[in-house]
Amino acid sequence: MCGIVGYIGHRDAYPILIKGLQRLEYRGYDSAGIALFDGENLSLSKTKGKVEDLKNRAETTISTNGKLGLGHTRWATHGVPNDTNSHPHYSNSGDLVIIHNGIIENYGSIKTALAKRGYTFTSDTDTEVLVNLIEEVKKKEGVKLGKAVQIALNQVVGAYAIAVFDRTKPDEIVVAKLGSPLAIGIGENEYFIASDASPFIEFTNNAVYLEDEEMAIVRIGKEIKMRKIKDDAIAYPNILELQLNLEEIEKGGYEHFMLKEIYEQPRAIMDTYRGRLLADQGIIKMAGIDQNLEKFLNANRIIIVACGTSWHAGLVAEYIFEDMARIPVEVEYASEFRYRNPVITDKDVLIAISQSGETADTLAAIKLAKEKGAFVFGVCNVVGSSIARETDAGAYTHAGPEIGVASTKAFTTQITVLTLLAMRLAQEKGTFSQSKFHEHLTELESIPAKVEKTLKSNPLVKEISEIYKDSTNCLYLGRGYNFPVALEGALKLKEISYIHAEGYPAAEMKHGPIALIDEQMPVVVIATKKGHYEKVVSNIQEIKSRKGRIIAIVTEGDKSVKELADHVIEIPETSESLSPLLTTIPLQLLSYHIAVMRGCNVDQPRNLAKSVTVE
Ligand code: F6R
Repeated sequence: MCGIVGYIGHRDAYPILIKGLQRLEYRGYDSAGIALFDGENLSLSKTKGKVEDLKNRAETTISTNGKLGLGHTRWATHGVPNDTNSHPHYSNSGDLVIIHNGIIENYGSIKTALAKRGYTFTSDTDTEVLVNLIEEVKKKEGVKLGKAVQIALNQVVGAYAIAVFDRTKPDEIVVAKLGSPLAIGIGENEYFIASDASPFIEFTNNAVYLEDEEMAIVRIGKEIKMRKIKDDAIAYPNILELQLNLEEIEKGGYEHFMLKEIYEQPRAIMDTYRGRLLADQGIIKMAGIDQNLEKFLNANRIIIVACGTSWHAGLVAEYIFEDMARIPVEVEYASEFRYRNPVITDKDVLIAISQSGETADTLAAIKLAKEKGAFVFGVCNVVGSSIARETDAGAYTHAGPEIGVASTKAFTTQITVLTLLAMRLAQEKGTFSQSKFHEHLTELESIPAKVEKTLKSNPLVKEISEIYKDSTNCLYLGRGYNFPVALEGALKLKEISYIHAEGYPAAEMKHGPIALIDEQMPVVVIATKKGHYEKVVSNIQEIKSRKGRIIAIVTEGDKSVKELADHVIEIPETSESLSPLLTTIPLQLLSYHIAVMRGCNVDQPRNLAKSVTVE
């Protein structure tokens, strides 16, 4: 939550900060602000609203000069989104400027203590408290900014990625991280600070990702000075050469990131299995599994933890693992798992799934499982993310940056990785015959072309969207492997179009939701040939007799459902376990078009953020 960006160097900071904030806007977008220092004057502009609003305000009200600056795009935690609560925040003297992503949990008691010493506060934020705590430490202890930040951070409880500068010493920015991500881009005589590398990738490929409880002082003309926050130990910058390119983080001719990312799925799925699925040799090669095979094979059970869409991918994985590898699986919401004193032993394997690799609840669940001795395996998209670093081993999805807040290609690539993992274990355990293994391998290899074909249904899905765009409710039904897809379809619709939608296992409909069905109610039913087809057809008949409107996702050439449904969208034939990779595509497109037709902000739906770094 919240995007932070900073610059110190020889270029004008303003355009770097604004463009950087636009790229980070997926992290939070209820308000934004920048502070610039031109050697003499500090200018500040903050506003409720988007970065575009900030740009309009800044360019008409402040001097945008300066080679030093900080910018912030916010997802409100403490205090409503308004101009005052937006970051950056100043200390009482006006010398220190801070941006912060995270939450300071004990800010209330610190605020009271500072108030007793005469400090005043203009905002409701925890961040303004933190910058004044740093100022108080700096004055009281007579230390430099870096030391003051370190002492202050030892007094706070919570999560943070912060960047602070002192206008009386404008050759350095001090940064620190715990829980929220922070990267430093290293250019020639210049440094960039950001929540991820997207704000600086056009200037440099060299970056350092801070670990938790690390801080750094970036000073013009000097190497980065890093240390641990807790114990003063020196931390050495691990400079990475990033592979990211600019094209991947731009819209590339699509109207929205979400649509671009939906269309990227054939490529993304292929990138996910590339070098892992070796069909000609009949093997699956995945370093993270191969090196830890015994842990998986000896596991009593697999526990999958995740949130949101990643949790849905986990539910699909439950079917896959149990079906193919015959290993018992439990799928848990990370937020529930971490707080319910779960029974975990060193015989358990925990798989954490997360696109961003930063989700606070998932991260906490991992830490808990590790404490109890479980082996923890991560499935993440963002390379070098906190979850990727915290897990014992893992496999990246290689989907490329996902910027639209609604997850699309993350879901299908997570299922792809988890399928590879389950198949590898099934082969090793002998629960899959060699011929079945080969058949499956070949089928998985054909999925990108089948996704491509499924995407051709886009014009039809758009027509259907036009009919249902004004609905107020929608039901999604599926069985077996496609029950989690029903949940995912409903989540996509509600989060970007704000239409109330629910996903159910089709047979559960009779136990309650059927009461909702009338001629106003669109029901999306996944009714593919393999996977309890006859039973789903009966469910469709039950809806039809109550005048519900049916949008069915069927296998090419289907006849029975066609006769019953109001609309059918065909997908190519595939195995039941791989069908979620296809059935989910029309559901993504349906929610996309409906949201666009309703005038919703598809890439940045209200109240949401891409990376949920608060619990
Ligand atoms: C829905 C969506 C969210 C995320 C959830 C977990 O479209 O994007 O539900 O799936 O916040 O995020 P990650 O996968 O980054 O842990």
